[in-house]
Amino acid sequence: MSKEFTVSQVQEHNSKTSVWIIIHNDVYDVSSFLNEHPGGEEVLLEQAGKDASENFEDVGHSSDARELMVKYKIGTLVASERKPEIRKKADPASWGENTDSSQSSFKSWILPIALGLLATVVYRVYFMS
Ligand code: HEM
Repeated sequence: MSKEFTVSQVQEHNSKTSVWIIIHNDVYDVSSFLNEHPGGEEVLLEQAGKDASENFEDVGHSSDARELMVKYKIGTLVASERKPEIRKKADPASWGENTDSSQSSFKSWILPIALGLLATVVYRVYFMS
């Protein structure tokens, strides 16, 4: 089980020597990543000790970035302080959980098939009699 932290514990790590950030209820220690971050250390320092989920998603980080962040994860927020998430975009473990796509591709077949059947019926009624 991963370590659990409270929001106020995370808030203490808001200086250049120790930077913790919350993204999607997970806690990241990005202190050693500051000068490696392609987006610059400024943006990370600005979010130090805070919940950066929205800003992180606004940037539209690549899947490479999401894989990389796993390296800096040190734990999660305590259950009572977690924010409800509609979809946990940042957690690679939950990728592929979204089964909607198979459903919608099934739905996308119904219309063409129905139109095909209708055309067959219309053709038979009007031209084969
Ligand atoms: C552990 C956390 C993070 C990791 C591993 C990470 C990693 C990366 C990587 C690999 C890139 C290069 C572009 C890409 O691959 O998407 C990037 C770009 C960037 N990141 Fe992060 N990032 C993290 C957190 C954040 C946070 C919290 C913010 C914001 C407020 C942020 C803001 C940006 C910006 C502004 C860019 C530049 C985008 C561009 O030039 O188009 N990042 N980050």
